[in-house]
Amino acid sequence: MADGPRRIAVSASTHQCRLYHTGALAENVQLAVVDALGKHAVAPAESDAPALTVFLRGVADVFTVSIDTSGELLHRRGWRTEAGEAPLRETLAAGMLALAAWDPRTPLVDPCCGSGTIVLEAAALAAGRAPGAVRAFAFEGWPGFDADRCGAIRAEAAVGPTMPPLLGFDTDADVIAIARRNAERAGLAEHVRLCAQPLAEAAPPEGAGPGLVLCNPPYGRRSGDRGDLARLYRSLLHVLRTRFSGWRLGVLTAARTLPTHFRLRPAATYPLVNGGLRVLLYLFSL
Ligand SMILES: C[S@@+](CC[C@H](N)C(=O)[O-])C[C@H]1O[C@@H](n2cnc3c(N)ncnc32)[C@H](O)[C@@H]1O
Repeated sequence: MADGPRRIAVSASTHQCRLYHTGALAENVQLAVVDALGKHAVAPAESDAPALTVFLRGVADVFTVSIDTSGELLHRRGWRTEAGEAPLRETLAAGMLALAAWDPRTPLVDPCCGSGTIVLEAAALAAGRAPGAVRAFAFEGWPGFDADRCGAIRAEAAVGPTMPPLLGFDTDADVIAIARRNAERAGLAEHVRLCAQPLAEAAPPEGAGPGLVLCNPPYGRRSGDRGDLARLYRSLLHVLRTRFSGWRLGVLTAARTLPTHFRLRPAATYPLVNGGLRVLLYLFSL
C-alpha cells in the first residue's frame, strides 16, 4: 500500500448541463471522495501530498466520474526526456512500425533518426519490453497500491531479447548524443547503433538480410526549404536504390509529392496526424 494520504484534486467540466457551476461541482465531488477514502485522503488546501486526480465530465446532464490512472500522458514512455527538432510521439512511432508490419526479427534502419524515437520503439518491441515499463504511473500513488505485485508484473514484461540490428543515423551530432542518452534511459543502449552521419553515407548492417527503412525526414514547412527538401529526397532515394535493394521503405511526410519525387508507386498509404499536422505514411518496396 502507498504511504500517507493522497491529495484529492478534482477537475470538472460541463456541456449543456443544468448543473454548470464547475467550481461547486468539483468541491462537492472532492468532499465526497475525501469522505469515502477516510484517512487515505485529504483536500488539496490541507496538504502537499501526492495528488490523486479525479475528473468529472458532464454532457447533457449525464455525469461521468473517472480517476487519472496514468499521470503523465500515456504516449510518454519515460525515457525521452530530451529531443531534437520535431520529435515524433512515441506512440506514433510504434503505430508506424505496426502499419509497416515490421517483423521484430528483421533489421531496421532510420537514416534521419533525430532523438531516436523509431529505433528505440523498435528496440523495445523486439526486446518484448512493455510500453511504459520504465515510467511511473499515477496509480502507483493510490491507496491500496501493491508495489511488490507491480514490481513482479514489470519483471515479467522484461522478456529476454534476441535482437536484430537496429540502426539510427542523423547528420546532427548533437541530436545523436541526445538519442544515445535516450537509449541509456530506456535501458536499450546495447541493442541499438546510433551514428552521426549524413543520409548519403547510410548503409545497411553488414551480413544482415533485408529489413525495413523507416523514417520521418524534415517536412520543409517553409517555402524556402523546398530546394533542400528535394535534394534530401533525391539523396534518400539514391542511397536506398544503391544500398538497400530488397528492403522495404516507410516514409512519414507531409509532402504529397513524395511518390513523384521517388518515381515509385507506394504499396500502401496511410493518412496520420503528427503534431496537429496531416501527414502520410508511404510504404514502398525497394
Ligand atoms: C523530423 S526530424 C526526425 C525526428 C525523429 N523521428 C525523432 O522522433 O526525434 C528529421 C531529422 O532529419 C535529420 N536530417 C536532416 N537532413 C539530414 C541528412 N541529410 N542526413 C541525415 N539526417 C538528416 C535532422 O537532423 C532531423 O533530426
